[in-house]
Amino acid sequence: MSTQQLFGPIAADMQAVDAVIRHRLHSDVVLIRQVAEYIINSGGKRLRPALVLFSAGAMGYQGTRHHELAAVIEFIHTATLLHDDVVDESDLRRGNKTANALFGNAASVLVGDFLYSRAFQMMVGVDSMRVMQVLADATNVIAEGEVLQLLNCHNADIEIDDYLRVIRYKTAKLFEAATRLGAILGGQDEAGEEPMARFGMHLGTAFQIIDDVLDYSSEEAATGKHLGDDLAEGKPTLPLIFAMQRGTPGQARRVRDAIENGGRDDFAAILEIIGQTGALALARERADEEVKLAIEAIEQIPSSIFKEALLKLCLFAVERKY
Ligand code: IPE
Ligand code: IPE
Ligand code: MG
Ligand code: MG
Repeated sequence: MSTQQLFGPIAADMQAVDAVIRHRLHSDVVLIRQVAEYIINSGGKRLRPALVLFSAGAMGYQGTRHHELAAVIEFIHTATLLHDDVVDESDLRRGNKTANALFGNAASVLVGDFLYSRAFQMMVGVDSMRVMQVLADATNVIAEGEVLQLLNCHNADIEIDDYLRVIRYKTAKLFEAATRLGAILGGQDEAGEEPMARFGMHLGTAFQIIDDVLDYSSEEAATGKHLGDDLAEGKPTLPLIFAMQRGTPGQARRVRDAIENGGRDDFAAILEIIGQTGALALARERADEEVKLAIEAIEQIPSSIFKEALLKLCLFAVERKY
């Protein structure tokens, strides 16, 4: 299933979100417009704004304030991507050269800052202390996640729990914020936010596990990113952790060396070990467990086309090729 099909019930709202995004990208500084429009025009699945709209719908929200908040979430996501590609030294994203490859690291970091701060201007405009709290916390935790990941680079001794902490922070937290905003828009108090928030957190965790699987198993034409970027950076992601756990001592040693040294030279050998140890299937099982927890979290929420779409998004998260 494509995102286009999945987003059917919110097609008009997604167009409204797109209009907000374009309007709010404006700056008198030409380079900001160039870089920001470049990455936004490259596309992206727009999963996180869709999550705001679907969760708001599932919680009974009927207004239009969710367009602005969905755009805020996409701006925060885009800012993290600009920064992430600098840190990861990636040069392909959304099927195009990354902004850092085209405009340089400095421009990418600074325009990322512009998008973060624009997102904060927009959320202040929404004028809800709870909304600001949620987004300020999420942004802060994402930064912690990226720093934790940096600390864990080239660390072949990482435990699964440490890996999970990194991805909950860097990725799942924004998913959680997106669905939590939906609950807030739907008029829930903090306790009432929890089911949707947990849904987003587990979905985001599954989403990142699959992202890490795709780095070893998809195709560049599908993901729009270079395969093997994670290995090149010495990132000890779940496929590698399982390969070390399940491999022979020799295989484990080989994976360990690749994590510790980074680079692309070992990619083919590591792919083979990953294949022989069944590491990708194990990682996918872990993602499936997260999706189960996500589905359980919203069991009590009344059925609607929006809830149905959230459940379909869970399937998409684990079955996707891009
Ligand atoms: C990429 O997210 C970063 C991760 C958290 C894995 P997406 O896969 O949602 O990126 P776009 O927005 O669709 O390009
Ligand atoms: C997700 O991690 C990055 C953020 C949450 C910003 P990755 O480094 O795996 O994302 P991609 O693969 O570059 O999109
Ligand atoms: Mg990256
Ligand atoms: Mg990745």
